[in-house]
Amino acid sequence: MNSIRDCFTLSNGVEIPCMAFGTYKASEGQTADVIKRAIEAGYRYFDTASFYGTEKYLGQAIKDSGIPRKEFFIASKAWKDEMGHEKTKVAFESSLERLKTDYLDLYLIHWPLPVPECEDWKELDVDTWRALEELYGEGRVRAIGLSNFLPHHIENILEHCEIKPMADQLEFHPGYSQEAAVRYCQERGIQVQAWSPLGRMRMFKEPLLVEISEKHGVSPAQVCLRYALQRNIIPLPKSSSIERMKQNQEIFHFELSAEEMYRLETMPQAGWSGEHPDRERIILG
Ligand code: A2P
Repeated sequence: MNSIRDCFTLSNGVEIPCMAFGTYKASEGQTADVIKRAIEAGYRYFDTASFYGTEKYLGQAIKDSGIPRKEFFIASKAWKDEMGHEKTKVAFESSLERLKTDYLDLYLIHWPLPVPECEDWKELDVDTWRALEELYGEGRVRAIGLSNFLPHHIENILEHCEIKPMADQLEFHPGYSQEAAVRYCQERGIQVQAWSPLGRMRMFKEPLLVEISEKHGVSPAQVCLRYALQRNIIPLPKSSSIERMKQNQEIFHFELSAEEMYRLETMPQAGWSGEHPDRERIILG
């Protein structure tokens, strides 16, 4: 990989850029500007979700850019209250409408459980997955996948699916590497994507990150992004500043050694968001 436009190949042959721009919480007042800036900075793969409230801004920004739709890679997700066969199909159409497009590049189930106490989540997930399979079969979406699904959630899908998920989006950054889930996906040809690849900067002051970034003459953010990429994981960083949007693309001129990778993979837990698919969110101080 030499630039963020270089691609991984999903199990169905679809090419997916090796870095995306995340749009969660880009909505606080200036979403349209942030997304416009990200397009100018060179991002073409945008990760959104109905829950984020950013789809309409992304759709408008893509239209205003004058750049052909096919040059973009757009991923969105069905939210917790959009699960179930019929609801997901309606949700997909609403996402397309807000995004001002007639197809998606990737559509994901956002979380495996709508609420932690949901007892029939297995049936609900399979029912939702059937909607995604149909949309894929109809050519409305180029690839389908999951988000925040851990191995036990994915097993349920694999047991009942006709089309295997092509991607899973997980929280992943130094200090929260979810090794078991990453390994499970990679052994099965499921492309892992990293949400919060910078851990919202919560672990930028960790001595190990400081040491490695100083050694390579890069920022802790660049180390985090390089770390994901070297694990064959697509990072989805977000930023509101054009300088940092550009800095986050400059991760192809250095390489983390095997020792640095091992140390990052095994560092004590840091920067965890407090979110887990089977639990209520834990608010960390
Ligand atoms: P900002 O918008 O001021 O750039 P994550 O993607 O893990 O959720 O982290 C997003 C946060 O990381 C944002 O608050 C963003 O702040 C910050 N950020 C993004 N890129 C960088 C960078 N290169 N250096 C420092 N902070 C960054």
